[in-house]
Formats: sequence, C-alpha cells, structure tokens
Amino acid sequence: MIIVFDAYGTLWDVSQIQQECERFMGKEQAQSFLSLWRQKQLEYAFLRTIMHQYVPFDQITHEALLYTLQYFHLSLSAAEQNDLEQAWWNPVAFDDALPALNALKSASHHPVILSNGTPLMLQAGVKATQMQTVLDGVLSVDIIQHYKPHPDAYNLVVTQFNRMPSHIVFVSSNGWDIAGASHFGFYTIWINRLHLPTEELGIRPKIITSSLSELPEKLPTLPSE
Ligand code: LAC
Repeated sequence: MIIVFDAYGTLWDVSQIQQECERFMGKEQAQSFLSLWRQKQLEYAFLRTIMHQYVPFDQITHEALLYTLQYFHLSLSAAEQNDLEQAWWNPVAFDDALPALNALKSASHHPVILSNGTPLMLQAGVKATQMQTVLDGVLSVDIIQHYKPHPDAYNLVVTQFNRMPSHIVFVSSNGWDIAGASHFGFYTIWINRLHLPTEELGIRPKIITSSLSELPEKLPTLPSE
C-alpha cells in the first residue's frame, strides 16, 4: 500500500526549532515565538493559495518570521534570521518516525512524503533525518503551486502512483491536513500527538492514534493497485 506522510509536525519535530530560537530570546518567549511563527507560516500558505499568490515555502517561512519578529519587537540581522530559518532545513525526526517507516517498509508498504516544503527543503530534511532508504517518494506541492489542503496537492499522489484516493493511506499530525485529505478521499490516520479536539471541518479521520509506533498494527487492508 501507498502510505503518505506529512513532513513537518508529523515525521519531523517542529518543536525542536525552539532550541534555535532560544539563542536570541528566553526559553518562555522562544516557545510562544515559535508557536506564532508556525501559525503564520501555515496561515500564509493557506491565504496565498486562496489568493492565487503562490510563493515557495522557504519564502513563506521567511515572511512568517518577519511578521513574528515585528510582533515580538525583536530585531535580528539577515544572518541571524537565516540561522533561524536553517532549522527548517535541518529538522529533527520524532523518535517514533524512523522505526515506524522501517516497519512499514519491511512489510512491503510504500512510505511517501507529501509536503508543502520546497523540493530542496525536503531533500535536505530527508538527508538530515536519514530517511533516504525508507521512502519510496518525496512529493512537494511546489510543482502545482497550491498548498495543502487544496485538493490539487493531494492529487499529486494519485497521478504519481496511479492509485484511487480510497486505496491510499494518508498520515498527518495536522488536523487541518487530515480534514483536507479526508475530503479528497484518502484513508486518513490522524496522529494526534497533542491530544487535541478533532477539527470541525465536516469530516472525521478514519483512525485516530497518538503515535506513529501504533501505525503498523492499525493499518487497514486496502487494494494494492
Ligand atoms: C508540511 C507541513 C505543512 O506540509 O506540515 O509538511
């Protein structure tokens, strides 16, 4: 089976970027700084898709950082801003990610990434997290210039692997991403790491679990073509 994973927040632990933020501010402020930075990064991706004003995810990440610096009345040099942004190019994998991907690969499944990240960001992230040998594909929405949860983003998987949506498993920790993928027709598994409420977006995930380690035994049996 094709099993599609979101990258940032699902396989890769965005909260680790807080350590980089702490170089420029206190621990408490770094947590709220990163939270707003990530919120704005996603918000800008959604808004630019709706406005048909696409720019690559590294530019969105930079512009979200500029907003967040203004909000916190912080001034960083271009070099310091670049140091912060580099954290998105050198992500840290969640502890449960590689073992789960290896278990799926050993069971003859096909793990794939579908992410808003640019091809170069994802290439760097896959290398930094040593996932090269356990992934059968890395898809960036950059080629179609619509961010998730736009249906064209999820359709990249259908056209790449020539499978019906209902025969594809989609895994994400982001509730909005799960809603988009569920509406698109994927068999969705929400990794609810933070024990959040389910988004009220008119649809529910097929499976809810709290860790990738539970994935292998919770997988459905779907047609393999
Ligand atoms: C990703 C971010 C949005 O697409 O989680 O990887």
